Amino acid sequence: MKLALIGLGTVNRGLLELLLEKKDILLKEYNFNPLITAISDPVVGSIFSEKGLNIEEILSLLQKENNIGNYSDGVKGWDSEKTIKEANADTIVEATPTDLETGEPGLSLLRTALSNKKNIVTTNKGPIVLAYRELRDLAEKNEVIFRFEGTVLSGTPVISFVESNFKGIEIKEVRGIMNGTANYILTKMEIGLSYEEALKRAQEKGIAEEQPEADIKGWDAAAKIVIVANVLMGGNLKFKDVSIKGIDTVRENDIIKALQERKHWKLIATAKKTEGKIIASVAPEILSDQDPLSKITGSINAINFTTDILGNIMVSGPGAGKRETGYALLSDLLYINESRRM
Ligand code: HSE
Repeated sequence: MKLALIGLGTVNRGLLELLLEKKDILLKEYNFNPLITAISDPVVGSIFSEKGLNIEEILSLLQKENNIGNYSDGVKGWDSEKTIKEANADTIVEATPTDLETGEPGLSLLRTALSNKKNIVTTNKGPIVLAYRELRDLAEKNEVIFRFEGTVLSGTPVISFVESNFKGIEIKEVRGIMNGTANYILTKMEIGLSYEEALKRAQEKGIAEEQPEADIKGWDAAAKIVIVANVLMGGNLKFKDVSIKGIDTVRENDIIKALQERKHWKLIATAKKTEGKIIASVAPEILSDQDPLSKITGSINAINFTTDILGNIMVSGPGAGKRETGYALLSDLLYINESRRM
């Protein structure tokens, strides 16, 4: 496979590190030995090299200079659009910042990539929330593969888990803890940290969004429930269809009072099928300690699927992080690699 990386922030750096760390096993077990022909990032620089880039050199430059302008070879300075069209890559790895209002710059870049018959792997929630059906249809029309596992719980398999294991099964309802920052803050407040201190720690851990408002006010969880509803439950929800309440409505006193009754506040995202329609919401709820979601602490996420055949099935794991989200991209790339070999 020939890859072009669009965006070289935390997520694509995580992917590069994994490609290096797992090089041998990826080749031996999965016959996966991708060539990265280009990287384009408006801040740290852009390079195209037909013969492929050396990952070790890229990572070392990032570590020393946080810039790849001094890479020893190749053509410098291509923007994302030109890179997608001209880097001779068959697959585009898109990890630009999420914008839930416009989807940009990712949405236009994904449209360009698909129209130019490139496979896509992305972790960018904005375009999937705003235009999942359009992008899916564009991929189908151009006979390419479009994967976005990392938009839900980073590398914890959700989309691929359901796709490969829920054959013929209908999902009736989804309930989940889909924002690590909010869950981390609520968990830490239970042991006496103030809201401000807990948020600061979540930011230090690197799990909070650049604008933590998206975590606190429930927008990030709402984006994820829209993706789950539309991709896994056949919905056609828009972001504004989700009723959203964040954890900023929960006071320290509320948390202490709940704890005294062995109950826990959690930010719960729900999508439920009722009479053929999907109703979705995000809101803080008080859960009894009988509820399995009440046991999900810290920055861990979980999704419970209520199904027509198997009853309840829960998936739990990390929902953020460099390595974890980098793995989401890697797992999608391996999916495409497998599909090409069939
Ligand atoms: N800020 C998000 C979270 C990261 O805390 O879960 C992944 O979307």
